[in-house]
Amino acid sequence: MIVTKDEKPKSRSHNFHLFHALMTISMTMLFLPVIRTSKQNIPRLKLTYKDLLLSNSCIPFLGSSEGLDFQTILLDEERGRLLLGAKDHIFLLSLVDLNKNFKKIYWPAAKERVELCKLAGKDANTECANFIRVLQPYNKTHVYVCGTGAFHPVCGYIDLGFYKEEVIFKLDTHNLESGRLKCPFDPQQPFASVMTDEYLYSGTASDFLGKDTAFTRSLGPTHDHHYVRTDISEHHWLNGAKFIGTFPIPDTYNPDDDKVYFFFRESSQEGSTSDKTILSRVGRVCKQYLCFEDG
Ligand SMILES: *[C@@H]1O[C@H](CO)[C@@H](O)[C@H](O)[C@H]1NC(C)=O
Repeated sequence: MIVTKDEKPKSRSHNFHLFHALMTISMTMLFLPVIRTSKQNIPRLKLTYKDLLLSNSCIPFLGSSEGLDFQTILLDEERGRLLLGAKDHIFLLSLVDLNKNFKKIYWPAAKERVELCKLAGKDANTECANFIRVLQPYNKTHVYVCGTGAFHPVCGYIDLGFYKEEVIFKLDTHNLESGRLKCPFDPQQPFASVMTDEYLYSGTASDFLGKDTAFTRSLGPTHDHHYVRTDISEHHWLNGAKFIGTFPIPDTYNPDDDKVYFFFRESSQEGSTSDKTILSRVGRVCKQYLCFEDG
């Protein structure tokens, strides 16, 4: 783990200790048995859209003609609202009636990014747009949002106001920041993120090609938002990981011991390259910066 943006330079030995501590303490991989048969993956219960409509247990959202491709949802139970991340749009729906007075933010990718994306041979409709992949509660008033930005990820804050009755829904366009290492470049890439204590933990690809995958931690309560990531190395860490989910899980009675768990799949590095064994894995990451320190 390296990369300490906006941080004061530290001594070599400190860096070494930090690196060493990160390598040894902060992350543990648990190896789970390989699932070989696809039969085990068939869901026990399967309902079609028609089944749901007939059973009266589904309410279609009708206002989405402009922004399709929903990939991200955030439930705000306290205020009875649902945020939906789509293609170039973020919707704010009321849980009482999804179709009544919903609000939306139009947030397309920058024009020059769309052009570059197309020049790189990507599809104008399904790839060169701003697909929202991150919607996470940041603080009492703001939600953190990231989109693929036509293969140039970008993040920002959405103001939702302080009071329950307020209906503010506004992207702070003056405070946009790079989404690299927080959000994938590719809208289809498997990806997981979670926000806890104002830190954003992501399991994502870090580049255009999607080859280098990493666990990252960014943001945080202070304003010098530096980030940490797993080391780029062919022999350690992740090997083309496909992220499934990530969750903060309490470890002991002490909240400082809480860990963030990443669930993912990756191909095994053992054996020949033709051997495509896929392993299910769990990565465990220390939450507290203090536990990265030597001692
Ligand atoms: C939440 O974060 C945003 C973005 O940094 C900031 O502008 C806002 O003041 C914060 N709200 C509170 C209640 O701290």
